[in-house]
Amino acid sequence: MVDFISQADRYLFPNYARYPVSFVKGEGVYLYDTEGKKYIDMLAGIAVNTLGHSHPDIVDAICKQASQLIHTSNLFYIQPQIEVAKLLVENSCLDKAFFCNSGAEANETAIKLVRKYFYDRGKPEKYEIITFTGGFHGRTIGSLTATAQPKYHEGFKPLLQGIRYAEFNNPDSLKDAISENTAAIMFEFIQGEGGVNPINQEFLQEIKNIAQENGLLIVVDEVQTGIGRTGKLFAYQHYDICPDIITLAKGLGGGVPVGAVLAKREIADSFQPGTHGSTFGGNYLATAAARVVLEHVLSDGFLEDVTQKGKYLEEKLKELGLETRGKGLMLGSPLPEDIKAGDIAKKALENGLVVGTAGGNTLRFVPPLIITRDQIDEALEVLAKVVQF
Ligand SMILES: Cc1ncc(COP(=O)(O)O)c(C=O)c1O
Repeated sequence: MVDFISQADRYLFPNYARYPVSFVKGEGVYLYDTEGKKYIDMLAGIAVNTLGHSHPDIVDAICKQASQLIHTSNLFYIQPQIEVAKLLVENSCLDKAFFCNSGAEANETAIKLVRKYFYDRGKPEKYEIITFTGGFHGRTIGSLTATAQPKYHEGFKPLLQGIRYAEFNNPDSLKDAISENTAAIMFEFIQGEGGVNPINQEFLQEIKNIAQENGLLIVVDEVQTGIGRTGKLFAYQHYDICPDIITLAKGLGGGVPVGAVLAKREIADSFQPGTHGSTFGGNYLATAAARVVLEHVLSDGFLEDVTQKGKYLEEKLKELGLETRGKGLMLGSPLPEDIKAGDIAKKALENGLVVGTAGGNTLRFVPPLIITRDQIDEALEVLAKVVQF
């Protein structure tokens, strides 16, 4: 056996608490480790492998693309990038797309875009963005500041200026946070890392009202909820709202790193040449993969199937005595205090099930969207063995 653990200790930064497992092969919802052990994957690379592992259409698309052209830079037109932008725009209420490489980068882009939009309108004093407790927006300094969770800030101060926090799902707290400097409100419809906490309808209505009364932009972080995860292409489509800016990453490339920002035309137009950019953003390889992901997710019946399978998973979790939160195939089960989600995830892994955890001692289920009901049963049989109440 390759001694990958001591090699990793020797050569890698110690910033991840890894499980003692390394996968060498994946197929659909299954993963295989260095010892040939098979696992069923309910984590999907943390809500990334939309079509499962090594989906033949993605493999085919990236192999073909790689043999033709991988990267040229955004100094030139990139046809698959334009096609992915078209798919995103034509299936949303927004008008234009920008491509980057990750969720954090998409959120950095959104923060810059909000500032530039107001600057261009002669209101540079409107730069403040309100974000919410329990949210997660990334690890770069801007997206980290937007992440209103002190545990992630420790040791990294001073943070970015111009981000203010309010309590999630608390309208009074949001009202208190508004000032003449407020430019935007930024949130997740379902806080993923924070514990799979959905926004409540009344709070969303309050956000809309406050944004309208104060001329604020609404920025939604759909890095985790986007690309079919909740049973709609975008989570905003469950609600009566059209955001001004949407950020995407994770599921968009099905495992190939790609992020995106969608915006209304008049907002996107603030990014004139020279204002923002990314060397790799939306290159041939990344957007060849994203195009395949979107074609599948937008194919007839795919999203309805995600919704139905989500309901099925929810029922099955309830049968195990677990509480559930979330939508579609983004579900969380908060555990009683005496059972640690981390311990359950570890035991599950030992038994051949990959499952995630999230804040608030929550188990997180974000499987590949192509999972079948039988595979859900298979995964929950393992879970039943390791979760005992
Ligand atoms: C909602 C949300 N936004 C942003 C991010 C950051 O994305 P990335 O790790 O690709 O930078 C994440 C990652 O978990 C996320 O869940």
